[in-house]
Amino acid sequence: EPEVPSFIASKVSQYSCQRKTTLNNYNKKFTDAFEIMAENYEFKENEIFCLEFLRAASVLKFLPFPVTRMKDIQGLPCMGDRVRDVIEEIIEEGESSRAKEVSNDERYKSFKQFTSVFGVGVKTSEKWYRMGLRTLEEVKADKTLKLSKMQKAGFLYYEDLISCVSKAEADAVSLIVKNTVCTFLPDALVTITGGFRRGKSTGHDIDFLITNPGPEEDDELLHKGLLLYCDIIESTFVKEQLPSRKVDAMDNFQKCFAILKLYQPRVNSNSYSTSKNFDMAEVKDWKAIRVDLVITPFEQYAYALLGWTGSRQFGRDLRRYATHEKKMILDNHALYDRRERIFLKAGSEEEIFTHLGLDYVEPWERNA
Ligand code: CTP
Ligand code: MN
Ligand code: MN
Ligand code: MN
Repeated sequence: EPEVPSFIASKVSQYSCQRKTTLNNYNKKFTDAFEIMAENYEFKENEIFCLEFLRAASVLKFLPFPVTRMKDIQGLPCMGDRVRDVIEEIIEEGESSRAKEVSNDERYKSFKQFTSVFGVGVKTSEKWYRMGLRTLEEVKADKTLKLSKMQKAGFLYYEDLISCVSKAEADAVSLIVKNTVCTFLPDALVTITGGFRRGKSTGHDIDFLITNPGPEEDDELLHKGLLLYCDIIESTFVKEQLPSRKVDAMDNFQKCFAILKLYQPRVNSNSYSTSKNFDMAEVKDWKAIRVDLVITPFEQYAYALLGWTGSRQFGRDLRRYATHEKKMILDNHALYDRRERIFLKAGSEEEIFTHLGLDYVEPWERNA
């Protein structure tokens, strides 16, 4: 039995931004079941139950030992009755009958398939399900459906997009993005955010933050070349507007949910590129890769970096902590102190943690 003398359950914070969560998860058995439950509640738009399971999963990901008895979770935050029932059954039976039921549920299985397509969310899935559609084959066969430009691209590159992005591919795309950006903006800073910044070895996409030090903002950058599919969303940020209080608010940066065409290394070569291998015209020698590009003004860079590094749960808890413990409002642009009625400037993530009175948490410790 692992002895963890410094571990005191009742001292574990309910906020994941006050915990250090690495990718080393001792309780995958439990957290996988919780994530299935949470996803099913998300498909049913039951945000409260969804968050309950996501918070519980996040607490167990943080635990420095595997849970083997109910006593192990005594005193821990976020362990409501619904959560405890699942844990108890997994301890006793090795698996959760509820989670198993969900993963075999027709509606869940259909929503899971539908939302695996780029551009398809819960709303569209709901619509297709109500029309009687159950599988992607049925969706593709239905010629009456009006697909968005994004969804068409999602179906066109489906197989590539559901296969994970590797670290090697992320590094290759990173070089390409940096080179391309630098031909337009030589001083620009390009940073990988998202899961790869948290140390994950695979991802469903690659997230980039782009900023140009100095006063000039370049809103032309995204309109220049290189992308297979690109849906550019123009910046809607208004100076002096208060940060958003929504739990999962979209930010107002100019951004682009793109699909990039990455040429695979040829036989006897291992360099990726975005130019074609002419001697291999017959075989598909490229892979479609999902890339998020976010352009931020330099003075908002630290806030954008913190928000886009995630994890999603870590970000939710940072905002919840700011609101409930500090009377502040945090989003991907700014931090507003409601008592002082001022915006708190930050040039680094460390400064944001300091403003919030939190110990700094490294990116690889934000896998909540
Ligand atoms: N994010 C955000 N605003 C959006 C979209 C995403 O702030 N409009 C944040 C998410 O909260 C997340 C981070 O950006 O913390 C990266 O999002 P995403 O790519 O979906 O998740 P990853 O953690 O990178 O995981 P994956 O490997 O699946 O891509
Ligand atoms: Mn990502
Ligand atoms: Mn994701
Ligand atoms: Mn992303």
